[in-house]
Amino acid sequence: MNSIGHLGGTVVCPGSFDPVTLGHLDVFVRSAEKFDHVVVAVLENSTKTSLFTVAERIQLLTNATRDFTNIEVTSFAGLLVDFCKSRNISAIVKGLRAVSDFDYELQMAQLNHQLANVETFFMSSNPTYSFLSSSMAKEVAKYGGSVKGLVPENVEDALIAKFKANKN
Ligand code: PNS
Repeated sequence: MNSIGHLGGTVVCPGSFDPVTLGHLDVFVRSAEKFDHVVVAVLENSTKTSLFTVAERIQLLTNATRDFTNIEVTSFAGLLVDFCKSRNISAIVKGLRAVSDFDYELQMAQLNHQLANVETFFMSSNPTYSFLSSSMAKEVAKYGGSVKGLVPENVEDALIAKFKANKN
């Protein structure tokens, strides 16, 4: 697709990505069309219990984004603004699925701006995926439903394997 008005620079797409969904991937790819470099950063020190380890999530993200040379996958610990400073990243890109995402995302954006002048750009999610979350995909996979069309193919396999392993 033609990218009208390339913005340039490096941005970060931070998150838990437990696991990455097609909704996340859509935001990464569209960001990669607009910006020079996109850093997908997995939070390491989350208080949330996760299904996949950080290393597994990085592996799944790396595989799902392998066709895009300007998308990099990494992890970070501590404050996102400190990671931004350490990498000289001046902006965050977040996908917004619905109004329900907005309150929390706005709060984080305002906090990050207040803390370190880091800007947040909100990208409206593709409506195809507006209902989709990592939790929903995990729930479907857990009870044996198909996650085709919800997560990248490598993640489908990983979810099936993970729930099979967890049963044993
Ligand atoms: O996928 P998530 O769990 O909604 O992602 C949340 C994330 C990782 C973007 C957010 O929790 C975060 O930036 N955490 C790092 C700690 C931090 O900087 N906190 C202050 C801003 S919320």
